[in-house]
Amino acid sequence: MCGIVGYVGEKQALEVVVDGLRRMEYRGYDSAGIAVVVGDHLDIRKKAGKLANLESLLGADPLEAATLGIGHTRWATHGGPTDINAHPHVSADGSVALIHNGIIENFARLRDELAQRGIELTSQTDTEVAAHLLAEHLGQCEGDLAEAMRRTCRQLDGAFTLVAVVADHQDVVVAARRNSPLVIGLGEGENFVASDVAAFVSYTRQALELGQDQVVEMTRDRVVITDFFGEVVEGKPFTITWDAAAAEKGGYDLFMQKEIAEQPRAVADALRGRFGVDGQLVLDEMRLTDSQLREIDKIVVVACGTAFHAGLVAKYAIEHWTRIPVDVELASEFRYRDPIVDARTLTIAISQSGETMDTLMALRYAREQGAQALAICNTVGSTIPRESDAVLYTYAGPEIAVASTKAFLTQIIAAYLVGLYLAQVRGNMYGDEIAAVMKELNDAPQAVDLVLDTSEGVEQLAAELAEARSVLFIGRHVGYPVALEGALKLKELAYMHAEGFAAGELKHGPIALIEPGLPVICIVPSPRGRAVLHDKILSNIQEVRARGARTIVIAEEGDESVTEFADHLIRVPAVPTLMQPLVTTVPLQVFACAMATAKGHDVDQPRNLAKSVTVE
Ligand code: M6R
Repeated sequence: MCGIVGYVGEKQALEVVVDGLRRMEYRGYDSAGIAVVVGDHLDIRKKAGKLANLESLLGADPLEAATLGIGHTRWATHGGPTDINAHPHVSADGSVALIHNGIIENFARLRDELAQRGIELTSQTDTEVAAHLLAEHLGQCEGDLAEAMRRTCRQLDGAFTLVAVVADHQDVVVAARRNSPLVIGLGEGENFVASDVAAFVSYTRQALELGQDQVVEMTRDRVVITDFFGEVVEGKPFTITWDAAAAEKGGYDLFMQKEIAEQPRAVADALRGRFGVDGQLVLDEMRLTDSQLREIDKIVVVACGTAFHAGLVAKYAIEHWTRIPVDVELASEFRYRDPIVDARTLTIAISQSGETMDTLMALRYAREQGAQALAICNTVGSTIPRESDAVLYTYAGPEIAVASTKAFLTQIIAAYLVGLYLAQVRGNMYGDEIAAVMKELNDAPQAVDLVLDTSEGVEQLAAELAEARSVLFIGRHVGYPVALEGALKLKELAYMHAEGFAAGELKHGPIALIEPGLPVICIVPSPRGRAVLHDKILSNIQEVRARGARTIVIAEEGDESVTEFADHLIRVPAVPTLMQPLVTTVPLQVFACAMATAKGHDVDQPRNLAKSVTVE
């Protein structure tokens, strides 16, 4: 949540910062603001609403020319999305401008202490206390900005990324990080800090990971990192493997459309290079030994939202291949219910961003109990992989639309690879069996490509159903998490009631929701898989149809048995059972995107949401 960018160099800071904010607006769009340092003063503009509002303001009332600046795009936590609560926040003496991502948990006490010293807050945010504290410390440590930031951080509880600039410090940006994300971009005669590399990838691909509880002091030709007590530490360098074009719309109207269309390529990239020369599967980072993996007697997947649904899909495959029990847990619930995890538990954290706070906290909790941790993540160098014992990156490329699409498919691929890896190490499967599944996986990009051809029909259907009050989704086996995912997409994009059910569960209550004309989307398993599942869902479809539901049936090519029960039929290519989520999810993504478009919603930036949820 919240996108943060800071720049120092030779370019116009305004252009660089606004460009960075544009690329990070997916992180929050309740308000935006920018500050530049001009001689002995700060020039600041901020505005509630999307970045476009700030840009209009800047058009009418331009900032002064400057080569050092910071910018922020907000997802509101403390205080509503107003102009006053927009960042940057300024210290009482006007000398410090500061932006923040995260939550300062002890802000009420700090606010009261400031009030006793005669400093009243002007906003309702938790952030403002940090601006005042930084200014106070700066006065006490002879203008040493990094030291002032360290002292400030030592007073704060919670999760925070802070970036600050100071009037008359024309060449230095200071930033700090605890829990919330922050990366440094290293340019020639210029440097950047940002929540996400997307903010500066068009200027440099050389970056540094900032660790936990670290402060960075950055000038145009120098970057010094210390811990919160002043000990100098090294950042971990990495190279960004994608270019700025990957984070552009590339001719599509919407990022979501582009990301749906990219899925064949993303799935192929997630699979690339996974077989070593010796025929063994390869993960990206593996700090667990084979004997540790052989000791595992339980797997716990922790994840949120779409990533949680990917975990639910993976459970079917991993249990089938390895015979290890797999629990899939909502990360936000996990550590509050005294879960049973120990040194023989493998915790798999699935996260596109690698920064989701609920998932990070669940992962840390599991590790504290002695569990091993494996991350499945799209964002190289983010916190969740950094804190894990093993990492498998999904290589889906940047996902900008708030609704997850290619991340979901590639998370399933990655989780399947983990299952196969475990089966290989533990000897649950023969090499040729693993190779056969890898062949099925390698065929998936083509199948996903084929299913994209059905998009036009699905879009027309969505336009027809735009007035529906509610849509239900039913599935069995791996089709059940797909039903949950279809419903989540529709809720977050079309703002309508949508629910996913295990089809067999309908008769235990939800069937009461069926009324004439209610659209029910039915995900039909292959008759070539477990025939019994296929037959049972046909019965479930008839049950809802008998009560007046309008049935939209997703079934594989050649399955003619469904035709008579379908008011609308969406065909997907015939693929093996465990590969079906890769094809059946795609029409549901297209459906939600088209439904939201038909209703006139902002598809890429749905209301109340942010791409990366870095608060609990
Ligand atoms: O970055 P993560 O994968 O950890 O994010 C988890 C969820 O917040 C995310 O999948 C969310 O549910 C999506 N917006 C759904 O489309």
